[in-house]
Amino acid sequence: MTHQKNAINKQTDTSKGQSIWGGRFGAGPSAVMREINASIHFDQRMYREDIAGSKAHASMLAKQGIISAEDYTAIHTGLDQIQTEIAAGKMHFDPALEDIHMHIEARLRELVGDAGARLHTGRSRNDQVATDFRLWTRGAIDQLDKLYIGLATALLDQAEKYAAAPMPGFTHLQTAQPVTLGHHLMAYFEMFARDRARLQDCRKRLNTSPLGAAALAGTSFPLDRHATADALGFEEPMANSLDAVSARDFAIEFLSVLSIGAMHLSRLADEIVLWATSAFNFLELSDSFSTGSSIMPQKRNPDAAELVRAKVGRIVGAQNGLLIVMKGLPLAYSKDMQEDKEPVFQAVDDFELCLVAMTGMLADFKPNLEKMKSAAGEGYSTATDLADWLVRVLNLPFRDAHHVTGAIVKTAEEQGLALTDVPLTAMQAIEPRITADVFDVLSVEASIASRVSYGGTAPDNVQRAIKDARKVLS
Ligand code: ARG
Repeated sequence: MTHQKNAINKQTDTSKGQSIWGGRFGAGPSAVMREINASIHFDQRMYREDIAGSKAHASMLAKQGIISAEDYTAIHTGLDQIQTEIAAGKMHFDPALEDIHMHIEARLRELVGDAGARLHTGRSRNDQVATDFRLWTRGAIDQLDKLYIGLATALLDQAEKYAAAPMPGFTHLQTAQPVTLGHHLMAYFEMFARDRARLQDCRKRLNTSPLGAAALAGTSFPLDRHATADALGFEEPMANSLDAVSARDFAIEFLSVLSIGAMHLSRLADEIVLWATSAFNFLELSDSFSTGSSIMPQKRNPDAAELVRAKVGRIVGAQNGLLIVMKGLPLAYSKDMQEDKEPVFQAVDDFELCLVAMTGMLADFKPNLEKMKSAAGEGYSTATDLADWLVRVLNLPFRDAHHVTGAIVKTAEEQGLALTDVPLTAMQAIEPRITADVFDVLSVEASIASRVSYGGTAPDNVQRAIKDARKVLS
Protein backbone atom coordinates (compact mmCIF):
# COMPACT_ATOMS: atom_id res chain seq x y z
CA MET A 1 0.00 0.00 0.00
CA THR A 2 1.29 3.44 -0.86
CA HIS A 3 0.99 5.93 1.96
CA GLN A 4 2.51 9.27 1.06
CA LYS A 5 3.00 11.98 3.64
CA ASN A 6 2.17 14.93 1.40
CA ALA A 7 -1.54 14.42 1.42
CA ILE A 8 -3.27 16.02 -1.52
CA ASN A 9 -6.69 14.69 -0.60
CA LYS A 10 -6.55 15.98 2.95
CA GLN A 11 -9.06 18.72 2.20
CA THR A 12 -11.68 16.08 1.50
CA ASP A 13 -13.74 16.01 4.63
CA THR A 14 -13.80 12.49 5.86
CA SER A 15 -13.43 13.58 9.49
CA LYS A 16 -17.07 12.82 10.23
CA GLY A 17 -16.67 9.59 8.33
CA GLN A 18 -18.75 10.97 5.45
CA SER A 19 -17.82 9.74 2.05
CA ILE A 20 -18.89 10.79 -1.41
CA TRP A 21 -21.99 8.65 -1.04
CA GLY A 22 -22.64 9.67 2.57
CA GLY A 23 -25.69 11.91 2.05
CA ARG A 24 -28.19 9.65 3.72
CA PHE A 25 -25.85 8.28 6.37
CA GLY A 26 -25.70 9.57 9.94
CA ALA A 27 -22.61 7.96 11.41
CA GLY A 28 -19.62 6.95 9.33
CA PRO A 29 -18.53 3.40 8.75
CA SER A 30 -16.58 1.50 11.40
CA ALA A 31 -12.86 1.07 10.99
CA VAL A 32 -13.30 -2.58 10.06
CA MET A 33 -15.97 -1.66 7.53
CA ARG A 34 -13.55 0.76 5.93
CA GLU A 35 -10.85 -1.82 5.85
CA ILE A 36 -12.92 -4.56 4.29
CA ASN A 37 -14.51 -2.11 1.88
CA ALA A 38 -11.35 -0.48 0.57
CA SER A 39 -9.80 -1.57 -2.69
CA ILE A 40 -7.49 1.40 -3.18
CA HIS A 41 -4.39 -0.57 -2.22
CA PHE A 42 -4.75 -2.62 -5.41
CA ASP A 43 -7.07 -0.77 -7.77
CA GLN A 44 -4.78 2.27 -7.82
CA ARG A 45 -3.08 0.28 -10.58
CA MET A 46 -5.93 1.33 -12.86
CA TYR A 47 -5.56 5.07 -12.43
CA ARG A 48 -4.61 5.73 -16.03
CA GLU A 49 -7.55 3.72 -17.31
CA ASP A 50 -9.88 5.47 -14.89
CA ILE A 51 -8.73 8.87 -16.08
CA ALA A 52 -9.00 7.86 -19.74
CA GLY A 53 -12.55 6.63 -19.11
CA SER A 54 -13.48 9.85 -17.33
CA LYS A 55 -12.08 11.97 -20.13
CA ALA A 56 -14.05 10.05 -22.74
CA HIS A 57 -17.20 10.34 -20.63
CA ALA A 58 -16.75 14.07 -19.99
CA SER A 59 -16.05 14.83 -23.62
CA MET A 60 -19.20 12.97 -24.65
CA LEU A 61 -21.26 14.74 -21.96
CA ALA A 62 -20.14 18.08 -23.39
CA LYS A 63 -20.83 17.08 -26.99
CA GLN A 64 -24.30 15.94 -25.98
CA GLY A 65 -24.93 19.26 -24.22
CA ILE A 66 -25.22 17.57 -20.82
CA ILE A 67 -22.38 19.61 -19.33
CA SER A 68 -20.95 22.89 -20.58
CA ALA A 69 -17.83 23.26 -22.67
CA GLU A 70 -16.19 25.18 -19.78
CA ASP A 71 -16.92 22.38 -17.34
CA TYR A 72 -15.45 19.92 -19.81
CA THR A 73 -12.26 21.95 -20.15
CA ALA A 74 -11.94 22.23 -16.39
CA ILE A 75 -12.49 18.48 -15.96
CA HIS A 76 -9.99 17.64 -18.66
CA THR A 77 -7.31 19.91 -17.25
CA GLY A 78 -7.96 18.65 -13.73
CA LEU A 79 -7.70 15.02 -14.81
CA ASP A 80 -4.40 15.72 -16.56
CA GLN A 81 -3.04 17.22 -13.38
CA ILE A 82 -4.26 14.27 -11.30
CA GLN A 83 -2.59 11.84 -13.66
CA THR A 84 0.68 13.70 -13.26
CA GLU A 85 0.27 13.74 -9.50
CA ILE A 86 -0.42 10.04 -9.22
CA ALA A 87 2.40 9.15 -11.60
CA ALA A 88 4.74 11.21 -9.40
CA GLY A 89 3.54 9.37 -6.29
CA LYS A 90 1.94 12.51 -4.89
CA MET A 91 -1.55 11.18 -4.33
CA HIS A 92 -2.29 10.24 -0.74
CA PHE A 93 -4.29 7.07 -0.80
CA ASP A 94 -6.83 6.88 2.00
CA PRO A 95 -8.90 3.75 2.63
CA ALA A 96 -11.78 6.01 3.67
CA LEU A 97 -12.09 6.96 0.00
CA GLU A 98 -12.45 3.28 -0.88
CA ASP A 99 -11.16 3.02 -4.39
CA ILE A 100 -9.34 4.70 -7.23
CA HIS A 101 -12.56 6.08 -8.72
CA MET A 102 -13.45 8.03 -5.57
CA HIS A 103 -9.88 9.21 -5.07
CA ILE A 104 -9.74 10.71 -8.51
CA GLU A 105 -13.20 12.21 -8.28
CA ALA A 106 -12.52 13.70 -4.85
CA ARG A 107 -9.28 15.23 -6.05
CA LEU A 108 -10.99 16.57 -9.15
CA ARG A 109 -13.55 18.33 -6.99
CA GLU A 110 -10.76 19.86 -4.94
CA LEU A 111 -9.12 21.08 -8.11
CA VAL A 112 -12.05 22.28 -10.22
CA GLY A 113 -15.03 22.41 -7.86
CA ASP A 114 -18.52 22.03 -9.30
CA ALA A 115 -17.32 21.03 -12.74
CA GLY A 116 -15.72 18.00 -11.11
CA ALA A 117 -18.93 17.20 -9.31
CA ARG A 118 -20.74 17.06 -12.67
CA LEU A 119 -18.46 14.38 -14.12
CA HIS A 120 -20.43 11.51 -12.62
CA THR A 121 -23.62 12.46 -14.50
CA GLY A 122 -25.12 9.43 -16.22
CA ARG A 123 -22.40 7.18 -14.84
CA SER A 124 -21.96 4.84 -11.89
CA ARG A 125 -18.91 3.27 -10.39
CA ASN A 126 -20.36 0.02 -11.65
CA ASP A 127 -19.92 0.82 -15.33
CA GLN A 128 -16.82 2.83 -14.51
CA VAL A 129 -14.96 -0.03 -12.86
CA ALA A 130 -16.03 -2.50 -15.53
CA THR A 131 -14.69 -0.11 -18.16
CA ASP A 132 -11.41 0.49 -16.35
CA PHE A 133 -10.84 -3.21 -15.81
CA ARG A 134 -11.46 -4.06 -19.45
CA LEU A 135 -9.06 -1.32 -20.52
CA TRP A 136 -6.43 -2.53 -18.07
CA THR A 137 -6.74 -6.14 -19.19
CA ARG A 138 -6.54 -5.09 -22.83
CA GLY A 139 -3.32 -3.22 -22.07
CA ALA A 140 -1.94 -6.24 -20.24
CA ILE A 141 -2.65 -8.44 -23.27
CA ASP A 142 -0.75 -6.04 -25.52
CA GLN A 143 2.19 -6.03 -23.14
CA LEU A 144 2.18 -9.83 -22.86
CA ASP A 145 2.15 -10.15 -26.62
CA LYS A 146 5.33 -8.07 -26.84
CA LEU A 147 7.00 -10.33 -24.29
CA TYR A 148 5.82 -13.38 -26.23
CA ILE A 149 7.52 -12.05 -29.35
CA GLY A 150 10.78 -11.82 -27.40
CA LEU A 151 10.35 -15.36 -26.15
CA ALA A 152 9.47 -16.74 -29.57
CA THR A 153 12.47 -14.99 -31.13
CA ALA A 154 14.86 -16.50 -28.56
CA LEU A 155 13.30 -19.89 -29.23
CA LEU A 156 13.62 -19.56 -33.02
CA ASP A 157 17.27 -18.52 -32.75
CA GLN A 158 18.08 -21.69 -30.83
CA ALA A 159 15.91 -23.89 -33.04
CA GLU A 160 17.76 -22.59 -36.07
CA LYS A 161 21.15 -23.30 -34.51
CA TYR A 162 20.16 -26.86 -33.70
CA ALA A 163 17.88 -27.62 -36.64
CA ALA A 164 19.92 -30.73 -37.49
CA ALA A 165 21.24 -31.66 -34.02
CA PRO A 166 20.03 -35.14 -33.03
CA MET A 167 18.45 -35.92 -29.70
CA PRO A 168 16.24 -38.74 -28.54
CA GLY A 169 12.53 -38.17 -28.96
CA PHE A 170 10.52 -39.65 -26.10
CA THR A 171 7.16 -41.15 -25.42
CA HIS A 172 6.42 -42.17 -21.83
CA LEU A 173 9.84 -40.57 -21.24
CA GLN A 174 11.28 -43.71 -22.85
CA THR A 175 13.54 -43.27 -25.84
CA ALA A 176 11.27 -43.57 -28.86
CA GLN A 177 12.76 -42.24 -32.11
CA PRO A 178 15.52 -39.77 -32.90
CA VAL A 179 14.43 -36.18 -33.53
CA THR A 180 16.32 -32.95 -33.87
CA LEU A 181 16.67 -30.50 -31.03
CA GLY A 182 15.43 -27.79 -33.40
CA HIS A 183 12.27 -29.79 -34.01
CA HIS A 184 11.75 -30.27 -30.30
CA LEU A 185 12.12 -26.55 -29.65
CA MET A 186 9.80 -25.71 -32.53
CA ALA A 187 7.08 -27.75 -30.84
CA TYR A 188 7.10 -25.05 -28.15
CA PHE A 189 6.98 -22.35 -30.80
CA GLU A 190 3.70 -23.86 -31.98
CA MET A 191 2.31 -23.89 -28.43
CA PHE A 192 3.32 -20.28 -27.86
CA ALA A 193 1.79 -19.26 -31.20
CA ARG A 194 -1.53 -20.76 -30.10
CA ASP A 195 -1.22 -19.05 -26.73
CA ARG A 196 -0.75 -15.72 -28.47
CA ALA A 197 -3.72 -16.40 -30.72
CA ARG A 198 -5.84 -17.23 -27.67
CA LEU A 199 -4.83 -13.91 -26.12
CA GLN A 200 -5.90 -12.08 -29.27
CA ASP A 201 -9.18 -13.94 -29.26
CA CYS A 202 -9.78 -12.97 -25.69
CA ARG A 203 -8.82 -9.35 -26.47
CA LYS A 204 -11.34 -9.21 -29.27
CA ARG A 205 -14.15 -10.52 -27.09
CA LEU A 206 -13.40 -8.24 -24.14
CA ASN A 207 -13.07 -5.14 -26.26
CA THR A 208 -16.61 -3.83 -25.84
CA SER A 209 -17.61 -0.91 -23.69
CA PRO A 210 -19.68 -1.05 -20.50
CA LEU A 211 -19.49 2.73 -20.09
CA GLY A 212 -22.90 4.38 -20.00
CA ALA A 213 -24.69 1.34 -18.61
CA ALA A 214 -24.62 3.40 -15.39
CA ALA A 215 -25.58 1.56 -12.20
CA LEU A 216 -27.41 -1.25 -13.99
CA ALA A 217 -30.40 0.05 -15.91
CA GLY A 218 -28.95 2.66 -18.23
CA THR A 219 -29.68 6.35 -17.74
CA SER A 220 -32.19 9.03 -18.59
CA PHE A 221 -29.45 11.31 -19.93
CA PRO A 222 -28.97 11.34 -23.72
CA LEU A 223 -25.56 9.65 -23.62
CA ASP A 224 -23.74 8.66 -26.78
CA ARG A 225 -22.34 5.30 -25.80
CA HIS A 226 -20.96 4.72 -29.27
CA ALA A 227 -18.85 7.86 -28.95
CA THR A 228 -17.29 6.84 -25.62
CA ALA A 229 -16.72 3.30 -26.91
CA ASP A 230 -14.96 4.75 -29.95
CA ALA A 231 -12.87 7.17 -27.93
CA LEU A 232 -11.60 4.34 -25.75
CA GLY A 233 -10.79 2.04 -28.66
CA PHE A 234 -13.63 -0.38 -27.95
CA GLU A 235 -15.38 -2.10 -30.85
CA GLU A 236 -18.85 -1.13 -29.66
CA PRO A 237 -20.90 -0.49 -26.53
CA MET A 238 -22.14 -3.57 -24.70
CA ALA A 239 -25.74 -4.17 -25.67
CA ASN A 240 -27.30 -4.90 -22.29
CA SER A 241 -26.77 -2.59 -19.33
CA LEU A 242 -27.19 -5.36 -16.74
CA ASP A 243 -24.67 -7.54 -18.53
CA ALA A 244 -22.32 -4.59 -18.99
CA VAL A 245 -21.90 -3.96 -15.26
CA SER A 246 -21.92 -7.56 -14.10
CA ALA A 247 -19.98 -9.53 -16.72
CA ARG A 248 -16.60 -10.75 -15.61
CA ASP A 249 -16.25 -13.65 -18.02
CA PHE A 250 -13.67 -11.57 -19.88
CA ALA A 251 -11.39 -11.69 -16.85
CA ILE A 252 -12.00 -15.40 -16.32
CA GLU A 253 -11.35 -16.09 -19.99
CA PHE A 254 -8.14 -14.09 -19.76
CA LEU A 255 -7.05 -16.10 -16.72
CA SER A 256 -7.87 -19.34 -18.57
CA VAL A 257 -5.67 -18.24 -21.44
CA LEU A 258 -2.89 -17.43 -18.98
CA SER A 259 -3.41 -20.79 -17.27
CA ILE A 260 -2.90 -22.63 -20.53
CA GLY A 261 0.08 -20.45 -21.39
CA ALA A 262 1.61 -21.01 -17.95
CA MET A 263 1.10 -24.74 -18.36
CA HIS A 264 3.10 -24.62 -21.60
CA LEU A 265 5.87 -22.60 -19.99
CA SER A 266 5.85 -25.08 -17.14
CA ARG A 267 6.37 -28.02 -19.49
CA LEU A 268 9.37 -26.36 -21.10
CA ALA A 269 10.69 -25.41 -17.67
CA ASP A 270 10.32 -29.02 -16.59
CA GLU A 271 12.38 -30.21 -19.56
CA ILE A 272 15.10 -27.75 -18.63
CA VAL A 273 15.11 -29.14 -15.08
CA LEU A 274 15.21 -32.69 -16.38
CA TRP A 275 17.85 -32.08 -19.01
CA ALA A 276 20.10 -30.31 -16.53
CA THR A 277 20.24 -33.34 -14.20
CA SER A 278 23.55 -35.23 -14.19
CA ALA A 279 21.59 -38.34 -15.18
CA PHE A 280 20.41 -36.69 -18.42
CA ASN A 281 23.26 -34.23 -18.85
CA PHE A 282 21.68 -32.71 -21.96
CA LEU A 283 22.11 -29.17 -20.77
CA GLU A 284 24.60 -26.84 -19.13
CA LEU A 285 22.80 -24.40 -16.83
CA SER A 286 24.00 -20.84 -17.13
CA ASP A 287 25.21 -18.95 -14.07
CA SER A 288 22.54 -16.30 -14.59
CA PHE A 289 19.66 -18.73 -14.16
CA SER A 290 20.88 -21.18 -11.56
CA THR A 291 21.95 -21.08 -7.93
CA GLY A 292 24.30 -23.02 -5.70
CA SER A 293 23.49 -25.04 -2.62
CA SER A 294 24.31 -23.78 0.86
CA ILE A 295 25.65 -27.18 1.88
CA MET A 296 26.64 -29.10 -1.26
CA PRO A 297 29.44 -27.23 -3.02
CA GLN A 298 29.09 -29.22 -6.25
CA LYS A 299 25.43 -28.28 -6.77
CA ARG A 300 23.97 -26.10 -9.46
CA ASN A 301 20.22 -25.82 -9.16
CA PRO A 302 17.79 -24.83 -11.90
CA ASP A 303 15.78 -22.51 -9.63
CA ALA A 304 14.49 -20.21 -12.34
CA ALA A 305 13.10 -23.12 -14.33
CA GLU A 306 11.63 -24.68 -11.22
CA LEU A 307 9.88 -21.42 -10.32
CA VAL A 308 8.48 -21.02 -13.82
CA ARG A 309 7.25 -24.60 -13.48
CA ALA A 310 5.61 -23.72 -10.18
CA LYS A 311 3.96 -20.40 -11.11
CA VAL A 312 1.27 -22.19 -13.04
CA GLY A 313 -0.16 -23.13 -9.64
CA ARG A 314 -0.71 -19.51 -8.69
CA ILE A 315 -2.11 -18.61 -12.09
CA VAL A 316 -4.57 -21.50 -12.23
CA GLY A 317 -5.40 -20.63 -8.62
CA ALA A 318 -6.26 -17.08 -9.68
CA GLN A 319 -8.58 -18.39 -12.37
CA ASN A 320 -10.20 -20.80 -9.98
CA GLY A 321 -10.59 -18.12 -7.33
CA LEU A 322 -12.37 -15.73 -9.65
CA LEU A 323 -14.66 -18.43 -11.01
CA ILE A 324 -15.70 -19.18 -7.45
CA VAL A 325 -16.24 -15.49 -6.65
CA MET A 326 -18.53 -15.13 -9.65
CA LYS A 327 -20.53 -18.31 -9.47
CA GLY A 328 -23.97 -17.81 -8.01
CA LEU A 329 -23.88 -13.99 -8.05
CA PRO A 330 -27.26 -12.59 -9.02
CA LEU A 331 -27.49 -9.76 -11.55
CA ALA A 332 -26.32 -7.11 -11.63
CA TYR A 333 -23.36 -5.71 -9.65
CA SER A 334 -22.39 -7.13 -6.26
CA LYS A 335 -19.50 -5.95 -4.16
CA ASP A 336 -18.05 -9.45 -4.42
CA MET A 337 -16.87 -8.32 -7.83
CA GLN A 338 -14.36 -6.01 -6.26
CA GLU A 339 -12.41 -9.22 -5.62
CA ASP A 340 -11.94 -9.65 -9.38
CA LYS A 341 -8.89 -7.49 -9.84
CA GLU A 342 -6.26 -8.90 -7.50
CA PRO A 343 -6.19 -12.36 -9.08
CA VAL A 344 -5.83 -10.80 -12.51
CA PHE A 345 -3.08 -8.38 -11.43
CA GLN A 346 -1.23 -11.16 -9.65
CA ALA A 347 -1.52 -13.54 -12.58
CA VAL A 348 -0.26 -10.91 -15.01
CA ASP A 349 2.73 -10.11 -12.79
CA ASP A 350 3.57 -13.78 -12.45
CA PHE A 351 3.09 -14.49 -16.11
CA GLU A 352 5.24 -11.58 -17.25
CA LEU A 353 8.01 -12.73 -14.97
CA CYS A 354 7.75 -16.26 -16.36
CA LEU A 355 7.95 -15.01 -19.94
CA VAL A 356 10.99 -12.87 -19.23
CA ALA A 357 12.75 -15.58 -17.22
CA MET A 358 12.09 -18.18 -19.90
CA THR A 359 13.36 -15.81 -22.60
CA GLY A 360 16.56 -15.39 -20.60
CA MET A 361 16.98 -19.12 -20.08
CA LEU A 362 16.52 -19.76 -23.77
CA ALA A 363 18.99 -17.08 -24.73
CA ASP A 364 21.56 -18.78 -22.46
CA PHE A 365 20.60 -22.28 -23.62
CA LYS A 366 23.73 -24.48 -23.93
CA PRO A 367 22.90 -28.02 -24.99
CA ASN A 368 25.39 -30.85 -24.65
CA LEU A 369 25.15 -31.95 -28.28
CA GLU A 370 27.46 -34.96 -27.94
CA LYS A 371 25.42 -36.39 -25.10
CA MET A 372 22.14 -35.74 -26.88
CA LYS A 373 23.40 -37.38 -30.03
CA SER A 374 24.68 -40.52 -28.32
CA ALA A 375 21.45 -40.78 -26.31
CA ALA A 376 19.54 -40.50 -29.59
CA GLY A 377 21.06 -43.79 -30.73
CA GLU A 378 20.36 -45.67 -27.52
CA GLY A 379 17.32 -47.76 -26.67
CA TYR A 380 16.95 -49.21 -30.21
CA SER A 381 15.58 -45.87 -31.28
CA THR A 382 15.76 -46.77 -34.99
CA ALA A 383 13.74 -49.96 -34.65
CA THR A 384 10.83 -48.29 -36.46
CA ASP A 385 13.18 -47.51 -39.35
CA LEU A 386 14.02 -51.20 -39.55
CA ALA A 387 10.33 -52.12 -39.60
CA ASP A 388 9.63 -49.46 -42.25
CA TRP A 389 12.49 -50.89 -44.38
CA LEU A 390 10.92 -54.37 -44.19
CA VAL A 391 7.62 -52.87 -45.39
CA ARG A 392 9.18 -50.78 -48.15
CA VAL A 393 11.77 -53.23 -49.52
CA LEU A 394 10.37 -56.68 -48.68
CA ASN A 395 6.73 -55.63 -48.97
CA LEU A 396 5.94 -57.09 -45.53
CA PRO A 397 2.62 -56.01 -43.99
CA PHE A 398 3.48 -53.51 -41.25
CA ARG A 399 2.22 -55.77 -38.44
CA ASP A 400 4.54 -58.59 -39.63
CA ALA A 401 7.43 -56.15 -39.99
CA HIS A 402 6.78 -54.99 -36.43
CA HIS A 403 7.00 -58.62 -35.27
CA VAL A 404 10.23 -59.36 -37.14
CA THR A 405 11.80 -56.17 -35.83
CA GLY A 406 10.81 -57.10 -32.31
CA ALA A 407 12.62 -60.40 -32.67
CA ILE A 408 15.75 -58.63 -33.98
CA VAL A 409 15.67 -56.16 -31.09
CA LYS A 410 15.39 -59.10 -28.69
CA THR A 411 18.48 -60.72 -30.21
CA ALA A 412 20.36 -57.42 -30.00
CA GLU A 413 19.35 -57.04 -26.37
CA GLU A 414 20.47 -60.58 -25.51
CA GLN A 415 23.86 -59.98 -27.11
CA GLY A 416 24.23 -56.49 -25.68
CA LEU A 417 24.48 -54.92 -29.15
CA ALA A 418 23.11 -51.79 -30.75
CA LEU A 419 20.87 -52.41 -33.76
CA THR A 420 23.60 -51.17 -36.10
CA ASP A 421 25.96 -53.85 -34.71
CA VAL A 422 23.70 -56.88 -35.05
CA PRO A 423 25.36 -59.14 -37.66
CA LEU A 424 23.47 -59.52 -40.92
CA THR A 425 23.46 -63.30 -40.43
CA ALA A 426 21.67 -62.92 -37.10
CA MET A 427 19.01 -60.80 -38.80
CA GLN A 428 18.71 -63.27 -41.66
CA ALA A 429 18.15 -66.05 -39.13
CA ILE A 430 14.93 -64.22 -38.29
CA GLU A 431 13.99 -62.97 -41.79
CA PRO A 432 16.13 -64.53 -44.56
CA ARG A 433 15.32 -61.86 -47.20
CA ILE A 434 17.01 -59.04 -45.24
CA THR A 435 20.06 -57.64 -47.12
CA ALA A 436 23.00 -55.49 -46.06
CA ASP A 437 21.14 -52.43 -47.44
CA VAL A 438 19.15 -52.41 -44.21
CA PHE A 439 22.09 -50.84 -42.37
CA ASP A 440 21.61 -47.66 -44.43
CA VAL A 441 18.46 -46.83 -42.49
CA LEU A 442 19.62 -47.76 -39.00
CA SER A 443 21.78 -44.76 -38.13
CA VAL A 444 20.39 -41.81 -36.18
CA GLU A 445 21.18 -39.39 -39.01
CA ALA A 446 19.47 -41.57 -41.61
CA SER A 447 16.44 -41.95 -39.42
CA ILE A 448 16.12 -38.22 -38.90
CA ALA A 449 16.74 -37.38 -42.55
CA SER A 450 14.02 -39.82 -43.60
CA ARG A 451 11.28 -38.10 -41.59
CA VAL A 452 10.24 -35.82 -44.43
CA SER A 453 6.47 -36.11 -43.98
CA TYR A 454 4.76 -32.77 -43.35
CA GLY A 455 5.58 -31.69 -39.79
CA GLY A 456 8.25 -34.39 -39.42
CA THR A 457 11.69 -33.94 -37.90
CA ALA A 458 13.89 -33.98 -41.05
CA PRO A 459 16.28 -30.99 -40.82
CA ASP A 460 14.98 -29.48 -44.08
CA ASN A 461 11.47 -29.55 -42.65
CA VAL A 462 12.66 -27.91 -39.46
CA GLN A 463 14.46 -25.16 -41.39
CA ARG A 464 11.33 -24.54 -43.42
CA ALA A 465 9.20 -24.38 -40.27
CA ILE A 466 11.59 -21.86 -38.76
CA LYS A 467 11.46 -19.72 -41.89
CA ASP A 468 7.67 -19.75 -41.88
CA ALA A 469 7.65 -18.95 -38.18
CA ARG A 470 9.88 -15.94 -38.66
CA LYS A 471 7.51 -14.64 -41.32
CA VAL A 472 4.56 -15.01 -38.96
CA LEU A 473 6.43 -13.26 -36.16
CA SER A 474 7.48 -10.21 -38.14
N1 ARG B 1 -14.38 -0.54 -5.97
C1 ARG B 1 -15.55 -1.07 -6.58
C2 ARG B 1 -15.19 -2.36 -7.34
O1 ARG B 1 -14.08 -2.55 -7.66
C3 ARG B 1 -16.15 -0.09 -7.51
C4 ARG B 1 -17.61 -0.29 -7.75
C5 ARG B 1 -18.37 0.03 -6.54
N2 ARG B 1 -19.78 0.02 -6.80
C6 ARG B 1 -20.71 0.00 -5.82
N3 ARG B 1 -21.92 -0.05 -6.18
N4 ARG B 1 -20.36 0.07 -4.56
O2 ARG B 1 -16.05 -3.18 -7.60
